[in-house]
Amino acid sequence: MAGSIVLFGPPGAGKGTQAGRISELTGKPQVSTGDMLRAAVSQGTQLGHEAKTFMDAGLLVPDSIIIGLISERLKDEDAVGGVLFDGFPRTIPQAEALAEIVSVEVVISMEVPDDSIVERIVGRRMDPQTGEIYHIKFKPPPEGVSMRVVQRKDDTEETVRSRLAAYHEQTAPLADWYSKRGLLMRIDGNGSIEDVGNAIASKL
Ligand code: AP5
Repeated sequence: MAGSIVLFGPPGAGKGTQAGRISELTGKPQVSTGDMLRAAVSQGTQLGHEAKTFMDAGLLVPDSIIIGLISERLKDEDAVGGVLFDGFPRTIPQAEALAEIVSVEVVISMEVPDDSIVERIVGRRMDPQTGEIYHIKFKPPPEGVSMRVVQRKDDTEETVRSRLAAYHEQTAPLADWYSKRGLLMRIDGNGSIEDVGNAIASKL
């Protein structure tokens, strides 16, 4: 399997927002563990049932569930040329398991301060028909779409604080882990959506 790319950063850093452009540039399909888990929850599968309690509380889903999910996804034909991981890995055991199955070319670390994160997440809305991500202030949905946008259940200020705490405790140490392996590419994620996208594109 050819090399994969990891999009890394705190919740709401803009990983999903930038993933489409990076996929287009690199030809690698986006693999978002958050999207896969939400699909499992809405389909009412056993995995979705197990994951839901953790997601609603803003906690990480156990590594064994996530690693199983990713291992299955990587068997699909479109993963042969490498993929763009969005929101995975999030713990050192997940990164170790990933290193056993694929080679990682680069880890794009989107760096955004906590205060901006809360504003971004609480204002996020999603179009359930297209999956497009909007923000009430930074990327308002166009007329015609604004009627149908929805807010994620875990996008409350209280849950964001738990997600940020989980990030700092369990996920942030991965930046050092990848830096030591010469794979970490730091990006200032605190500019406009376009500027951040251009910064990533210019470095890829
Ligand atoms: P997941 O869905 O991965 O959530 P997350 O990491 O918390 O990331 P988000 O989707 O919230 O943010 P994002 O970085 O994609 O930001 P976005 O582009 O939408 O995970 C959900 C849950 O699933 C987790 O809490 C956990 O329980 C579980 N889970 C998932 N993966 C797991 C794993 N590997 N291990 C264990 N558990 C796992 O942008 C956010 C908002 O900001 C949008 O409104 C957007 O329009 C706006 N915005 C984006 N960029 C900018 C910008 N530059 N300026 C202004 N606004 C911007």
